[in-house]
Amino acid sequence: MKVVKTLGQFIIEKQADFPYAKGELSRLLRDIAIAAKIVNREVNKAGLADIIGDAGSINVQGEGQKLLDVYANEQFISALKSGGECCTVVSEENDEYIYIDHEISKNAKYIVAIDPLDGSSNIDVNVGVGTIFSIFRRKSQNGKATMEDVLQTGTEQVAAGYVIYGSSTMLVYTTGKGVNGFTLDPSIGEFCLSHPNMKIPKDGIIYSINEGYYAHFPDGVKKYIKFCQVEDDKTNRPYTSRYTGSMVADLHRNMIKGGIFIYPITAKSPKGKLRLIYECNPMAFIIEQAGGKASDGYNRILELEVTELHQRSAIFIGSENMVKKAEEMMACFS
Ligand code: AHG
Ligand code: MN
Ligand code: MN
Ligand code: MN
Repeated sequence: MKVVKTLGQFIIEKQADFPYAKGELSRLLRDIAIAAKIVNREVNKAGLADIIGDAGSINVQGEGQKLLDVYANEQFISALKSGGECCTVVSEENDEYIYIDHEISKNAKYIVAIDPLDGSSNIDVNVGVGTIFSIFRRKSQNGKATMEDVLQTGTEQVAAGYVIYGSSTMLVYTTGKGVNGFTLDPSIGEFCLSHPNMKIPKDGIIYSINEGYYAHFPDGVKKYIKFCQVEDDKTNRPYTSRYTGSMVADLHRNMIKGGIFIYPITAKSPKGKLRLIYECNPMAFIIEQAGGKASDGYNRILELEVTELHQRSAIFIGSENMVKKAEEMMACFS
């Protein structure tokens, strides 16, 4: 009989990797997993429940919020509030960072940055969506967390993960010692270890980019797309193009099969579209831990200076050799 290892059991076993940890990070991951299960329940019945469609509000990035964006945001924040290990939350859906001020979080050390629902435009059409989270330790000792606590570089993350609500629901996370994936078994309501020690292939044949914006891509990106499309038996080209509109879904596929995901600067998004703190940095941490590479076309994502809460960045992320090739082509025009 196959022995099942739940996320809870796995986290407790791994606590030994952190000799000074008192279980706070483990409890934080547990709280995030609880919220993920609640969001999963709603995503699963989205066609039946009154939860599809627009919330009628606009977030700080000027995007129309979906009802599920708002719902997922509330669920993660409320799980982090009641868990007691998180002092501050940065969310795509909130203009400012949220300080959690209540009895049990007086000693809370951790800051969580979240994209509660990634790819939310997919929800109305039953295509995969996700959640992205990043965890770091506050720098100040007490009082309210400061902007300096919140604007930490990607290399300072202590953990990061994503949840994919797809044909099955998975939670994938890293604490800087490799990447592990857990599939939700709905019959027991537990995330169970299904993808231990995940590694992204060094090479791949999938490229994921919104080619609708081709005319406005930088020349280096255009050159890389052409490279992907040219026939060459030795390197398995032309590559296959796959793009869902959810970074989580596109990167999860590319992590398993090998591939590159690119969201470059465009005319509409001159600094890139994706947000550094709660989209690019956590995904870069996970992909690097799985043996891949993440860059803004020139520099390592995890080393970019963070100056704003909702700062954006271009991103080239995935299989190491594919990202290197794209960087080479970017360099031709710099
Ligand atoms: P979100 O739904 O959290 O706002 O993120 C959407 C992001 C990302 O997941 C996806 O890859 C990208 O936006 C899609 O943007 P385009 O429609 O411009 O391709
Ligand atoms: Mn959004
Ligand atoms: Mn997103
Ligand atoms: Mn989102």
